[in-house]
Amino acid sequence: MHFASDQNLTLPAIAAPMFLISGPEMVIAASKAGIIGAFPTPNARTSEILDDWMAQITTTLAAEPNAAPWAANLVVHRSNPRLAEDVACVVKYKPPLVITALGSPAEIIEQVHSYGGLVYADVNSVAFARKAAAAGVDGLVLVGAGAGGHTGQIAGFAFVEEVRKFWDGAIVLGGAISSGHAIRAAEVLGADLAYLGTSLIPCEESLAVQEYKQMVLDAGAEDIIPSNAITGVTANWLKQSLINAGHDPDNMGGPGKINFADPQNDRKAWKHVWAAGQGVGAVTQNAPIADIISRMGAEYDDAIKLPAFGRNAGDDNDQR
Ligand SMILES: Cc1cc2nc3c(=O)[nH]c(=O)nc-3n(C[C@H](O)[C@H](O)[C@H](O)COP(=O)(O)O)c2cc1C
Repeated sequence: MHFASDQNLTLPAIAAPMFLISGPEMVIAASKAGIIGAFPTPNARTSEILDDWMAQITTTLAAEPNAAPWAANLVVHRSNPRLAEDVACVVKYKPPLVITALGSPAEIIEQVHSYGGLVYADVNSVAFARKAAAAGVDGLVLVGAGAGGHTGQIAGFAFVEEVRKFWDGAIVLGGAISSGHAIRAAEVLGADLAYLGTSLIPCEESLAVQEYKQMVLDAGAEDIIPSNAITGVTANWLKQSLINAGHDPDNMGGPGKINFADPQNDRKAWKHVWAAGQGVGAVTQNAPIADIISRMGAEYDDAIKLPAFGRNAGDDNDQR
């Protein structure tokens, strides 16, 4: 099942859920700007706060007839002690899209479908893509190489092609997509939507501190260090933030301890060591998300007008 322009999307994109970065203001602003706004439920420290956030999102967006849909991102790993409570909140507030991460989406599909919602599974390997497809999801979020946070290892160009061989449902492509040109390229490859993480860290509505936003604006691809030393799972980090936190980027050691069960413990790690992907070099705007989406929209339109190499040659021939 696909999201399309008749669902108020001005650009085929999702504001990717980011730990400690995406809250209700960012979701609402993204949806009002015409892309799907999303946040990870652990960003709300308790289930009560999560209930407040979802109430705020649904009430505000109900008064915005042109807003794009919104999404909740659930950590479905069996060690997540809050999963049942968060799913109850999802069923209560009915986000049109639920994106699952770090585990099997199977358990929640029926509950989300029961209210008419769609389930997309975030996967970073072809094997996980096959498993999620078999579980009955509506869409796959392919997190490719170069993504911020828990990155995949497969280049997006390869990932979409391989998954399209066995999957004709929705595909979202993530990893270093930071411009309207890249969003268009993802579509040309066969993806339905682009997943925008790093490029939105510096938006005005993000919960990142100003130093973090500035570091993203200043960084280039060579400032991104992959390491499993911080969370036990390979993630892409900003080199300067590793140095500031006392790590040696050339000798990170690892792997660290995997602990999805304790978001409070994870908070400590992610508060001081800042994640970002290889797309940082194209990130230039510390502005309201609507302005960033508008710039990407202009780039996207520009990319549509770019003549394809072969077609261009053909046109020239026709004119002769
Ligand atoms: C700071 C940060 C935090 C993230 N936190 C989460 C998260 O909580 N849950 C999740 O599924 N993905 C998380 N991601 C991954 C994003 O949802 C998305 O896959 C990725 O940012 C896309 O690649 P890009 O950063 O190159 O645009 C995070 C990414 C970043 C940069």
